[in-house]
Amino acid sequence: MSIAPALSRPRTLLAPDEAFHTFSSQAGGEVAAYVKELGNSSPAARVDSLDVDLSGCPTFTAEVEASRAVIDSTAHFIVYDRISGLDSLRDQALYAWLLGAALGRPMVQNTDGWRLIEVYDRGDHRTIAEGARYHQTKQGSYMHNDAVNDVDPIDYLLLSCGQAAHLGGESILVDIKTVHDVLTGHPDVLEVLTGDFWFEKRGMSRSAEPEFFRSPVIRYSADGEPLVRYFRTYIEVAHEKLGEPLTERQRRALDFFDAVHDQSSVQYRVLLGQGQTLVSADDRFLHTRTAFVDRHQPREIDIAVDRPEDVNRCMYRIWSSKQPAAAG
Ligand SMILES: [Fe+2]
Repeated sequence: MSIAPALSRPRTLLAPDEAFHTFSSQAGGEVAAYVKELGNSSPAARVDSLDVDLSGCPTFTAEVEASRAVIDSTAHFIVYDRISGLDSLRDQALYAWLLGAALGRPMVQNTDGWRLIEVYDRGDHRTIAEGARYHQTKQGSYMHNDAVNDVDPIDYLLLSCGQAAHLGGESILVDIKTVHDVLTGHPDVLEVLTGDFWFEKRGMSRSAEPEFFRSPVIRYSADGEPLVRYFRTYIEVAHEKLGEPLTERQRRALDFFDAVHDQSSVQYRVLLGQGQTLVSADDRFLHTRTAFVDRHQPREIDIAVDRPEDVNRCMYRIWSSKQPAAAG
């Protein structure tokens, strides 16, 4: 008699309970009141141009502080639930902005100096390989982390949901520690991945000429934990532009790496609902999204005017750093 292998439980939707936080009614009330105040005092300003003073939100900041260790040290990601009363697209962006400011210093994400980016399909028919930036497309299946356009690490990657897709658009998170555990059995692959690759400062360079930097795909923290920097298409394009195509050995190592992180055993899946915010330690995870179907034709979204029910999948992205801004 054959014995069927035991089914392994997929690590879908948040294995640890600590990785889901609902703010108390006191904390939620503080945030909702502050969001309304900011909305009334600066109705037209870009959300990321607003200075934030969280002194009126002590319960909120205390709860963020209490949950910080989940992102920094244990699960390395968390989902903060929606706050009642924040129903408009701009309210949600303001809530995300307060969360980003409570966690750290929101970082610049493009040459316009924006620190909160709206992630939705612009209907651009260029592919990512042809130069489009990921957050402006609906392409799925590009496993990556975000600190690939600049050398500075991102301590907190926030993805906040203004509107979910009609169907799909799940976030897939790949725990690089689990991937690394697999790779330790393949030292030849690990040797290549811990060597340097070229990356391009896509969308971050003010120069007309493309700028590049070198980094390993896998490196280590001071206490020996594996960290990741990866976006295969960006790496391949950077190598091509520099006239240094990937070697066969590098290509094989990346193929192996891709196959490892395609396994469900190293993945979490998170489907964000409207109002929810996923925060992850960017260099501890690769992430991607699944394909999605929108309700409407792609178009520009104006979060100050458009209602959630009238727009397609719309997420807000913030990168927050624990480091204070450099002087000068
Ligand atoms: Fe990303």
